[in-house]
Amino acid sequence: MGDMSTGAYAAAYEQSIADPTTFWGQAANAVEWIREPTSILDDTAPPFYRWFRGGTLNTCFNALDRHVRDGRGDQAALVHDSPVTGGTSTFTYAALLEHVARLAGALSSLGVGKGDRVVVYMPMVPEAVMTMLACARIGAIHSVVFGGFAPAELAARIEDARPTVVVAASCGIEPSRVVEYKPMLDAALDRSTHKPESVVVLQRPQARAAVGERNTDWEELDWDELLSDAEPADCAEVEATDPLYILYTSGTTGRPKGIVRDNGGHAVALRWSMENVYDIGPGDVWFTASDVGWVVGHSYIVYAPLLTGATTILYEGKPVGTPDASAFWRVIGDHGVKAMFTAPTAYRAIKREDPAGELMTGHDLSTLETVFLAGERLDPDTYEWATAVLGVPVVDNWWQTETGWPIVANLRGLEPMPIKPGSPSVRVPGYDVEVLDDAGQPVPRGTEGAIAIRLPLPPGTLPTLWQDDDRYVSGYLSAYEGYYLTGDGGLIDDDGYVYVMGRTDDVLNVAGHRLSTGSIEAALAGHPAVAECAVVGVADDLKGQVPRGLVVLKGGVDAASDGARIRSELVQRVRDEVGAVASLRQVDIVAGLPKTRSGKILRKTMREIAEGKVPTVPGTIEDAGVLDSLGEVLRPPG
Ligand code: COA
Ligand code: AMP
Repeated sequence: MGDMSTGAYAAAYEQSIADPTTFWGQAANAVEWIREPTSILDDTAPPFYRWFRGGTLNTCFNALDRHVRDGRGDQAALVHDSPVTGGTSTFTYAALLEHVARLAGALSSLGVGKGDRVVVYMPMVPEAVMTMLACARIGAIHSVVFGGFAPAELAARIEDARPTVVVAASCGIEPSRVVEYKPMLDAALDRSTHKPESVVVLQRPQARAAVGERNTDWEELDWDELLSDAEPADCAEVEATDPLYILYTSGTTGRPKGIVRDNGGHAVALRWSMENVYDIGPGDVWFTASDVGWVVGHSYIVYAPLLTGATTILYEGKPVGTPDASAFWRVIGDHGVKAMFTAPTAYRAIKREDPAGELMTGHDLSTLETVFLAGERLDPDTYEWATAVLGVPVVDNWWQTETGWPIVANLRGLEPMPIKPGSPSVRVPGYDVEVLDDAGQPVPRGTEGAIAIRLPLPPGTLPTLWQDDDRYVSGYLSAYEGYYLTGDGGLIDDDGYVYVMGRTDDVLNVAGHRLSTGSIEAALAGHPAVAECAVVGVADDLKGQVPRGLVVLKGGVDAASDGARIRSELVQRVRDEVGAVASLRQVDIVAGLPKTRSGKILRKTMREIAEGKVPTVPGTIEDAGVLDSLGEVLRPPG
């Protein structure tokens, strides 16, 4: 424990592990409680741990009302910068509070109360942020579904969350097309056995939706009409341990995991991270280019900057193509951004379009102090390039939906450290990270293994999965007694720097978007000509990883005459069911899939073939012969 022998980091890290009660008890002072917690860490029922039990608060109060009361009412809270619609709008803390309070009243009028769920299916519009905060205000639990997900993914989330209300926008805007959301929502609700009581639709002029025209058991309402006669609602008092939101994330199977975030731990941890990891304080301008549908968006577009009293930029656009690779530089210059946060993929896309960084000319980047990158591995090439063109520290940080905030980072506020390319740096206070071997024993420094975190996890991390304690234990805690399994492999070096090499399971990471092989396989398997299928992630220069599909056709289907049609139908099916964001472009028809004798598909073996490596072939393989024909299809050219 504690690899640095001096300095603020070493002291904080050591205290956080040896005496978490004192450490987090102090951090909790940054949050305004209605009733102070009676215990900091409740460890009476391992492997379940709860933070700040007995405390009550309201997250929306801490994000908005508190700042207005303390004199920040006229400061910009939220800036919506939207190159895809050609506009920018700014909401001060006072204005945002007014919108949120009325929306909270409107949701209450629809019968949404404490603990009820609200599914949010919206693009990067201010109303998405308002809906999240309005739920927090009345103690309802939001579950935001990424707008790039198609009906099957949306339906699975509605089915599990069982929302009282679904709030959607009529459309999202991609550079190449307008994506209509309402038909996808209708299709998802038709599939789901759970039906909400009401659906609220925000009409956007780019594609208005037909609202209230279908014969449904639930009420369909127009956002503007609902808001026109809404009364503002006050903040509800909730327990620190009450859920604030559920965010579904992809596991290996097609059934998403409902990550639960509580109110108290979340507010404390995010507030702490903003200051200590990202070096952002009240009044600073902060720009996270992600999406509110992902955890980076939840934590660092919405909650952390607002809890801090900073100004957050909600950017509805892409790193390239809206209109070009100067988009981020324009946003930084226009708004005086102090630090930005995005995924490495975005920088790879900019590098590809503008390798010399010529498009920076004419933009005032003098306010920019740091660029933070997360969501996928930051490859050293991209790191070196970004550092050279920007001339500011480019800081990797590693975490996941489950944790909600960084596990490993270079703590720019607490004690900046030398950067080692390829490593997100050191263990963040609160996270007792170890690398374990197959037997669950910590390995020597420098040795690769499974990255695990000794329990308890710090505040703000998942206490469990939504209504599924068993799956929480079996999915994360049962591999190694006393540890949370991250699903990533890697090592810790002699200086305590952690290197994260990638997932050890079948979770895909495509352009920083986490996707499940199981969902894509389910879409492929639904095609009438497919007997069996497998999806593997293969390396991609831009997106880090992209899926490849392999299918075995049913007897009687003629691959020679129908193969091309079936392959393109399969690509389309994945777009229609999972979403275009899956980026599945290639499906190959093969004679057989490598499997163990018990029928388990050997995806790792296939992945290795696709990446040109010597495949690991387990002795339990059913028919090693299929590997030869697979090699012809999968092996990269050259
Ligand atoms: N709604 C609807 N469709 C969406 C969508 C959304 N919110 N987001 C993406 N899509 C669609 C795109 O339009 C595209 O469709 P197409 O196949 O018809 O062109 C497809 O999904 C793939 O999108 P994307 O992954 O954005 O790839 P791209 O090739 O269009 O752009 C990048 C590449 C690198 C510019 C892009 O992936 C990017 O901006 N990445 C940053 C990732 C990020 O912020 N991750 C969040 C984690 S921090
Ligand atoms: P998500 O839950 O969508 O945030 O995805 C989490 C996963 O993305 C992690 O388990 C890692 O596999 C990967 N990931 C996120 N950040 C990093 C990083 N900085 N370096 C390497 N991998 C990362």
